[in-house]
Amino acid sequence: MNPPADKPFLFVTRRLTANVEARLTRDYRVRWNEDDRPLDADDLVRGAADADAVVCCLTEKFTAEVIARLPASVRLLSTVSVGTDHIDLGAARERGLTVTSTPGAVTEPTAEITLLLLLAAARRASEGAAAIREERWTGWSPTWLLGRSVAGKRLGIVGLGRIGQAVAQRARAFGMEIHYFNRRRLSVADEAGAIFHPSLESLLPVCDFLSLHAPGGQRVLDAAAIARLPRGAIVVNTARGDLVDDDALIAALRDGRLGAAGLDVFAGEPRIHPGYRELPNVFLLPHMGTSTVEARDAMGHLALDNVDAALAGRRPPGLVVGK
Ligand code: DGY
Repeated sequence: MNPPADKPFLFVTRRLTANVEARLTRDYRVRWNEDDRPLDADDLVRGAADADAVVCCLTEKFTAEVIARLPASVRLLSTVSVGTDHIDLGAARERGLTVTSTPGAVTEPTAEITLLLLLAAARRASEGAAAIREERWTGWSPTWLLGRSVAGKRLGIVGLGRIGQAVAQRARAFGMEIHYFNRRRLSVADEAGAIFHPSLESLLPVCDFLSLHAPGGQRVLDAAAIARLPRGAIVVNTARGDLVDDDALIAALRDGRLGAAGLDVFAGEPRIHPGYRELPNVFLLPHMGTSTVEARDAMGHLALDNVDAALAGRRPPGLVVGK
């Protein structure tokens, strides 16, 4: 049954979970991206024709040019992600668009996958998994594939926001000591024993492990930053690929300056720097930080809570730009 024509009209750029699509069908008129194919600028502008709002994902780039070409009917961009680096927020503000995101819903799965990467990188999971699959395992050995224990080590967190704090909580359970650098120092309660560093420069030399939890659109780990890390340090990135200088990271992993890395996000993904594939000491995942049934349901529902509120003139829970 088609929803009545008086319901708001949404353009939904990707297929979402069945639960979220059921809510969309119940409450809105929807233009779907039926086959879930990647959409370019022209597709986005065409798809948004007559829509009141666009529900999008981090795979769609809302550049200033796309935002300028959006039909006047569009009042809201509701992204099913916490990251908003795929949206030119300045252009959205200028255009009077509301932009919303889905914080909170992504915290736990992202923290879980951070620990997965940290442990996998420290314990040489890529090499072990490849050896067993390729039938190169000849039996238990006292000296084969020795990794590093995380217990008693120092974990440096860049960005002790919601996700950083959830990572810290889990890492403490593994016996790690937490250090962090943030724009502002947290309250003693939120720090939960983590040691504050007023600059990245002061954090890096104490990091046996370093985990990035900063927004994209900035460079945190370049050659100079890597040089400040202790020799053999392990780097984890579940935030955004552009935080890292790939060439510098690959060079440091190749020559042993860094011990290992666990990476879930990449500049220019899904294409990744080919150098990563050649390194045995890198554990790679294809941007799976929030890929759980629970998280994708929660993210989709929060994106729709944002739509419900914004189109009804209320303040959306995940407001990024607008009122
Ligand atoms: C986000 O929400 O920005 C995540 O990167 C999605 O996995």
